[in-house]
Amino acid sequence: MQPNHPLPVDPDRLHAIAGKWGTPTYVYAEDTIRERCLTLQKLFPDLPVFWLYAVKANDNPHILDIIADEGFGFDTVSYEEVLLCLKLGTSPDKIFYTENNMTDAEMHGAASKGIVLNIGSLGRLKSYCESYPGSKCCIRIKPDISDGHHAKVDTGNLDSKFGIRMDRISDALDIACEHQVSIHGIHAHIGSGIREPENLLAEIEILLNASRQLDDLTFINFGGGMPIPYRNDESSFDFNHFAGLASNRLNTFLKKCNRPVSFFFEPGRWVVGPAGILLAQVNTVKDQGRKLFLGTDTGFNHLLRPALYDAYHEVVNISADSEDGTQTYHVAGNICESGDILGFDRKLPKSSSGDYLAILDVGAYGMTMASHYNRRALPAEVLVTSDGFHKTIRKRKTADETVDDFLNETGKLSTDKNARTV
Ligand code: LLP
Repeated sequence: MQPNHPLPVDPDRLHAIAGKWGTPTYVYAEDTIRERCLTLQKLFPDLPVFWLYAVKANDNPHILDIIADEGFGFDTVSYEEVLLCLKLGTSPDKIFYTENNMTDAEMHGAASKGIVLNIGSLGRLKSYCESYPGSKCCIRIKPDISDGHHAKVDTGNLDSKFGIRMDRISDALDIACEHQVSIHGIHAHIGSGIREPENLLAEIEILLNASRQLDDLTFINFGGGMPIPYRNDESSFDFNHFAGLASNRLNTFLKKCNRPVSFFFEPGRWVVGPAGILLAQVNTVKDQGRKLFLGTDTGFNHLLRPALYDAYHEVVNISADSEDGTQTYHVAGNICESGDILGFDRKLPKSSSGDYLAILDVGAYGMTMASHYNRRALPAEVLVTSDGFHKTIRKRKTADETVDDFLNETGKLSTDKNARTV
């Protein structure tokens, strides 16, 4: 393994987990998550910087508990995520809700629970202000800076659906003023897996400047998007360097602005990505003439990133020994689509049926994007705890349970197994 990719959980432990809980299973290392939270907490010692974890990256309640315990609040993007955080005991003032095409019911639900709403369209701002005169809210702007690891996750660009246009901020202020609503926060998020840290710094500059228009300003939220290296030759995001540059700028801003303003960042991937492994088992080795396939018991229904974004995830055979020679394989899933390839042309130790594979850096946007496509069961999730144990944090359902759940949800579950309900 290259230094960029130490396994967060050692192979013996992974074998033990596979033996006990089976595969496919997402395995997370609590230590890694805590260390990464701590790294972030130390980055801006002299500034009022607060960290909100982007729940969408990994919303397993046990993971959220760990991150809350490290002093993070939560960045949510749906009413369901808001409810999840509340039901886990998070106080409303630690939940930030960035709406996106929010319904009235979602707006009233969140507002009635005392959640800060981050509003990204003039239409929604108007209906919020009409419903809650005299209250406060945050606005999301579209900074026209574009970045992200793929066009599908680049959110700040000119044609993006997100945020209020810069040239319409004054309209937002007029709407708020008409209803005595104070806009106390301003937010932007330029994309996920930012390639150029300069773009994040440029976004900060834009937000600092735009915030001067807000008389009631109490916070600025710079969003998330901090990348992690997926390939061995990719370097890590230099957070210390970034924080140094950002600190200078934020300090200068605070000195000039003469009032208490807090700053938020909302990383998801950076916090949990490297902490997660998808453990899978090889069940088929197939020579298709020009390509040799390693067939596994998982697929893009469990890890969508390679199929959706051409994303690269390192694959490690934790059972085979490279001293027996290596071979180049396509690592394939078990979904009935030819696009279900988890890794192309991977040089691995000679592999056989029964070997276990560790697919790395899947702690973010792995399980949260998993589905029942092909009606398959979801993976189990296991946490390797800081005190050296491992425990299931989401049980696997059997094939029978998965199908019965589906029949139940669709109103087709019959107690008489032979009867069809029509
Ligand atoms: N804040 C907002 C408003 C966001 O929309 C996102 C991510 C984040 C924060 C956290 O971004 P992060 O720090 O995790 O990059 N499924 C894609 C990523 C989509 C991210 C969407 N928004 C992937 O697997 O790469």
